[in-house]
Amino acid sequence: MRKINIFDTTLRDGEQSAGVNLNAIEKLEIAKQLERLGVDIMEAGFPASSQGDFQAVKTIASAIKNSSVTGLARTNKKDIDIAWDALKYSQEPRIHIFLATSPIHMTYKLRKTPDEVLESAVSAVKYAKQKFTHVQWSAEDATRSDKWFLARILTEVIKAGATVINLPDTVGYTTPKEYGELFTFLKENVPNISEVTLSAHCHDDLGMATANSLSAIEHGVGQIEGTINGIGERAGNAALEEIAVALHIRQDFYQAKTTLKLDEIKHTSQLISKLTGMAVPANKAVVGANAFAHESGIHQDGVLKEKTTYEIITPELIGVSSNRLVLGKHSGRHAFKQKALELGFDLSPEKLKEVFDAFKALTDKKKEVTDDDIFALLADKQTEQ
Ligand code: KIV
Ligand code: ZN
Repeated sequence: MRKINIFDTTLRDGEQSAGVNLNAIEKLEIAKQLERLGVDIMEAGFPASSQGDFQAVKTIASAIKNSSVTGLARTNKKDIDIAWDALKYSQEPRIHIFLATSPIHMTYKLRKTPDEVLESAVSAVKYAKQKFTHVQWSAEDATRSDKWFLARILTEVIKAGATVINLPDTVGYTTPKEYGELFTFLKENVPNISEVTLSAHCHDDLGMATANSLSAIEHGVGQIEGTINGIGERAGNAALEEIAVALHIRQDFYQAKTTLKLDEIKHTSQLISKLTGMAVPANKAVVGANAFAHESGIHQDGVLKEKTTYEIITPELIGVSSNRLVLGKHSGRHAFKQKALELGFDLSPEKLKEVFDAFKALTDKKKEVTDDDIFALLADKQTEQ
C-alpha cells in the first residue's frame, strides 16, 4: 500500500479565507492538534508576510516535534532569509517557494517573460538550498500553464535542488481527468522527475478539489495538500479529511493510505471551526453534523437492522460516538419506538401507535420536533394508562 504524505495548509492557505484572522496562541493550539492528527507536514504561515506570522511560524517550528513544519516564501532572497529565521529550529527545516507559471499570471501579475520566471525560480531554489535540506517548489497556476514550459522549468528547478514539486490548481479550474493527465505528461517529459516527490494542491471553485486530489493520487503523486474543513481562499482548498477517509474506505480502489489518526478528525474539525469562526455546513462530507444522521423511515429501519445498509463510514472512525436517528416527517415506527425506549417509555403497541400518529401530526405543524416534544406526547399517553 503506497503511503501518501499529508501536507496541511490550514494555518496558511486556510487562514487566507475571507474574514479569518488567527492570533499566535490560536495558531499554536491548531498546530498541536494537527500534530495529534498526524499530519506529515504543516505549513504554519508565510513568515515574510507580517511580523505576527513570522512569530507564529517560529513558535510552531520550535514547539512541534512529530510533524515537519514549513513556511511559504516568494522567490526573493529576503523572503527566504526570513523563512529560515522562522524555521531553523524546527526538527526538519523545510521551505515552500512559489512562482506563477501561467501566461495570465506571468503577463499581468509578474510582468515577466517565461525565461525570466525560469531564472528567478532556479536562483531562488539554489539560494534556499544553501540553508534548507527540503525545498518545495510550486508552479502557481500550474493547471493554466503551458505544459511544455512546465516540463522545462521543472527540469531546471529539480537540477537546482528542489526535493518536492507541487502543481497547484490555484483557481480550481482543472478536472480530475485533465489534472491526472498533467502529472502523467510531466512524468514522461521531465527527465529527472523521479528524484522528487510530486504534490497536488487543489482549490474548490468548481467543487472538484477532492476529486482532483484523488485523481492526482491515481496518477502517482506522493503528497496531497489541503486544509481541514476545506477552508481557504474563495471556495476553499481540498478538504483533507475527505481525502484521507476516501483513501481509507476505498483502499481497494486507490491502493494508497495516509498515516493520519482518523479518530482525531472530528475534534480537529470542531476546533478549527471554533477558532476560525467558520461554521461547518451540516451536510458537509465526513465532518458535517448530518454526516451520520438518518431521517427517513426507510433509512432508519435499514440502519436499525444493519448499519452498513446506509452507512459507508462508521462514526467511530472519525471520532464521533454514534450515528443519530433524527425524528421528522419522513421517520417511521421503528425509529420512533427506539426513541420512546431511549426516553424511558415502554408503551403497549396500541398506545405507541396513537402517540406515533400524534407525533406525525405534529411534524406537519412544526419544522423541528424535539426530544422534549416527543417526551411530552409519550408522557401524556402514559398517564392515560
Ligand atoms: O493555490 C496556490 O497556488 C497556492 C500556492 C501559494 C502554493 O496556495
Ligand atoms: Zn492555494
